[in-house]
Amino acid sequence: MKITVNNYKDVDIYSKEGFELLSELWLKVYAHNKLTHQVSWMGIPIIQVAEDIIMMQELIWKIKPDVIIECGVAHGGSLIFYSSLMELIGNGRVIGVDVEIRPHNRIAIESHSMATRITLIEGSSIAMETLKKVESLVQANEKVMVVLDSNHSTDHVAKELELYHKFVTPESYLVAMDGAQAFVWDIPNGKKEWKTDNPLLAIESFMKDNEMFEIDEHYTRLKVTANPKGFLKRLK
Ligand SMILES: C[S@@+](CC[C@H](N)C(=O)[O-])C[C@H]1O[C@@H](n2cnc3c(N)ncnc32)[C@H](O)[C@@H]1O
Repeated sequence: MKITVNNYKDVDIYSKEGFELLSELWLKVYAHNKLTHQVSWMGIPIIQVAEDIIMMQELIWKIKPDVIIECGVAHGGSLIFYSSLMELIGNGRVIGVDVEIRPHNRIAIESHSMATRITLIEGSSIAMETLKKVESLVQANEKVMVVLDSNHSTDHVAKELELYHKFVTPESYLVAMDGAQAFVWDIPNGKKEWKTDNPLLAIESFMKDNEMFEIDEHYTRLKVTANPKGFLKRLK
């Protein structure tokens, strides 16, 4: 079956190009309908593309980190998600950093059955005071994964990459989320500035001549993802 869209002409939907086109369109419609705001994990809203939740599950199961540091908590769904997997694995804890943890979100997180594995830090992820608090909660011999999902401007993510990459232990991952902001700037409720102000630009700049990390495409293979080039594996 062939379709024609914008720059694509008569694309066979079953070809590699067709799959990529449909994924690109699906993501735009997904974002437009704010479907990322309509899912929850164990009762707590998690602001993620459903496919990405499955991918994170695969990654956490593979790495089995002692600690996950996540910048960007919102309602706390992702913290509850990571800690529920750690509960099943039988090890691990999560540090959640957010510039503003609203009282009702804090109550929901702290009263959740997964709360014992979670520590919340309120403060900007790039403030030195916050960084020191995070450092004080991580031991030298622990296996650490980092997830960046806070302010999605290029500058902010670039600064987070600079500050948080050193926490990631060899073979583990730094997941820089929402690079797809670069591809949804033209949706009806999108913003033109996302085209030139997005996490993807920060990731590409961080990865230029980077011998410490490599981009792992395995975790974006479902194509419908908010995190293109976002799974960075630490090599050494
Ligand atoms: C996309 S939401 C996080 C979603 C969450 N990870 C999830 O999966 O449900 C982004 C969050 O980043 C927070 N944020 C914005 N600027 C920040 C900053 N400078 N430092 C830390 N958090 C920030 C916002 O308050 C918001 O709660």
